[in-house]
Amino acid sequence: MSVSKILLVVSTRPNFMKVAPMLHVLSQRPDRFESILVHTGQHYDTRMSDVFFEDLGLPDPKYNLGVGSGTQGEVTGKAMMAFDPVLIDEKPDLVVVVGDVNPTLSCAVGAVKLHIPVAHVEAGLRSRDRKMPEEINRIVADAVSDHLFTPSRDADDNLRVEGIPDSRIHFVGNVMVDSLRHTEPSLDASGILDDLGVGAGGYALATSHRPANVDEAEPLGRVLDCLDRVQQRMPVVLPLHPRTRARIAAFGLDERLGRMTAVSVIEPVGYVDSLRLQRDAAIVVTDSAGIQEETTVFGVPCLTMRPNTERPVTVEVGTNTIVDLDVDLVERKVAEVVDGNYKEGELPDYWDGKASDRIVDVFERII
Ligand code: UD1
Repeated sequence: MSVSKILLVVSTRPNFMKVAPMLHVLSQRPDRFESILVHTGQHYDTRMSDVFFEDLGLPDPKYNLGVGSGTQGEVTGKAMMAFDPVLIDEKPDLVVVVGDVNPTLSCAVGAVKLHIPVAHVEAGLRSRDRKMPEEINRIVADAVSDHLFTPSRDADDNLRVEGIPDSRIHFVGNVMVDSLRHTEPSLDASGILDDLGVGAGGYALATSHRPANVDEAEPLGRVLDCLDRVQQRMPVVLPLHPRTRARIAAFGLDERLGRMTAVSVIEPVGYVDSLRLQRDAAIVVTDSAGIQEETTVFGVPCLTMRPNTERPVTVEVGTNTIVDLDVDLVERKVAEVVDGNYKEGELPDYWDGKASDRIVDVFERII
């Protein structure tokens, strides 16, 4: 049997932990697969990219397309333009895109137009909020990809409703959980809690970077109001995304944040520290996508500061609650956690750390 060339694309912070376990399984089957890693370079700072390569043991990418930051159109277009020559040179047997960031769309479309089969991992998720750039990326990537690997059954249903035949849908579970389980033994070695002077179960972790929450002054002020309610009950650790840091400065909200004396603002953290901070938090308050899932795996209460989620299984089965920017609801939910009345979650089906094995098994069948 000949060796098939699989080209995997990463772009931003939430992509790295989705690709690492697939690369690992592919490397265990060298008589069947050769893998090539392409980084589009949408995230480029050490803290947004290099740290994750180190924490996850990812190899250096063979290509870095240097796309960088820009408008939605710039990032999407630059990634599509820069990816074409790689596809033409490498002629892969399969392109694998993950998640829902701008180059997920660009690279799926670029490959399919060159008649190269495309696999989309984490397919089928829908928030039904078309104002989110990620929702458009998900819809387009799913429409053009040949093989759709879904993390939960709701995603299968979403794809069927959009007319995608069952033959293209593969329910494999959540590939992020593979990375989480692989990294879990290293978490106790993280010194982040000691560095911050917080103890397990005695603090809240908060993150916010969604454009709808941070790009305008009014919602960003309400994000800070939510965090203010939390910090009245317990210390809050806030690793600040560069987008949010820039907006806080631009809107003159530094002083308001500075008055919240129980909030520790820190730089973005790497993968190991992020998981450690989540695992040991009393509660997590976020607008991230991946953190909704990771907290469900850890069984840690999560309040999501969005009006919706494309990951409903984290609410229906897991520990997540959608609170939007409702400060009173945040306060009530924090009180439930402190009083021990917050709901208990369970693990969704196939969130068992073996999704990448199932994905590569499918690759063996389809190529
Ligand atoms: C992107 C993804 C989002 C994902 C998030 C994770 C899209 C549409 N959005 O949003 O789905 O949840 O990544 O972080 O693809 N910046 C730096 N250093 C970097 C990267 C960015 O300073 O390494 C700054 C730049 O000023 C940039 C801003 O952060 O303009 C936003 O970065 P960008 O990649 O455009 O979007 P994210 O908000 O990170």
